[in-house]
Amino acid sequence: MNFRDALKHGIGHLRAAHIASNTLAAELLLLHATKRERTYLYSHPETELTPAEIAAYQSLLDRRVSGIPVQHLTGKQEFWGMSFEVTPDVLIPRPETEHLIEVALDRLALRELHAGRPNKNDGAGLLIADVGTGSGCIAIALAKELPQAQFVAIDISGAALAVAQRNASRLGFSERIQFAASDLFLNSPAAPLVAPDSPLSCDLIISNPPYIGRREAPSLPQEVRNHEPEVALYGGEEGYEFYADLIAQSAERLKPGGLLVLELGHDSLPAVQPLLDAPVWKNVSVTNDLAGIPRVIAAEAA
Ligand SMILES: C[S@@+](CC[C@H](N)C(=O)[O-])C[C@H]1O[C@@H](n2cnc3c(N)ncnc32)[C@H](O)[C@@H]1O
Repeated sequence: MNFRDALKHGIGHLRAAHIASNTLAAELLLLHATKRERTYLYSHPETELTPAEIAAYQSLLDRRVSGIPVQHLTGKQEFWGMSFEVTPDVLIPRPETEHLIEVALDRLALRELHAGRPNKNDGAGLLIADVGTGSGCIAIALAKELPQAQFVAIDISGAALAVAQRNASRLGFSERIQFAASDLFLNSPAAPLVAPDSPLSCDLIISNPPYIGRREAPSLPQEVRNHEPEVALYGGEEGYEFYADLIAQSAERLKPGGLLVLELGHDSLPAVQPLLDAPVWKNVSVTNDLAGIPRVIAAEAA
């Protein structure tokens, strides 16, 4: 079997099992089984697979059909142009979370513009907290864009933090990211920089919190429900419960004029927007994702 036939076979196999995004999935699994780059696949379609490669590929296809996400089979996911290690201990980074990075960078740039420093965009002097860091994708994407900023990346899951630390180290950002096991900001002895009223409190707090309602669990795709960590998915019975504590604790840990940037679930906006009210918060903005869903809410500490 050559590469072209293998790809065709994989797509057919996954389509017959009603697997979504079957073409991309077959391609990623074929590349993983053969340890090749995408360019090789399309420039050498006649290359024959070895028997071992065919067996590895077929096993990956079968495991995908059994419901295991592609990213757990390949162990990686692209985010913000970088390849992140993912394991069943972390949420698989989603493309819509890139909007969170865009909004954070836009709002930081706007702040500099208003302060009369339009060209200062390297993050010098900024302390940024990523709450619920998971794979570390948000802190690491911002560290890439803001090469002078310092970060605190918090997660309640020690297993997730281990993955995030490996990602930061492999991608070359571990010197600027301090990792802390903590329930939000509360039991975070390893992160004294974000103690309330500290003179070193944050310039930006950013989070993609768990926001799915437990009552929605039965309607989730089974690859999400059965394979991604519950602590990363569910924000409470309704889903939006988590935001109240996150917003209240953030208000105590932002400098005046500091920014809070949060990802929203598909129906979170009506519950979350009223929590960002005056006199504590100002300049609230809501940004839609490509599907037109309000996906990011941002506000400034007054
Ligand atoms: C939706 S995931 C986001 C992961 C990653 N930031 C991303 O965008 O892909 C939420 C993360 O919050 C963490 N988490 C849940 N409850 C938490 C809490 N009380 N304090 C800190 N982190 C928490 C979970 O372990 C999970 O890693």
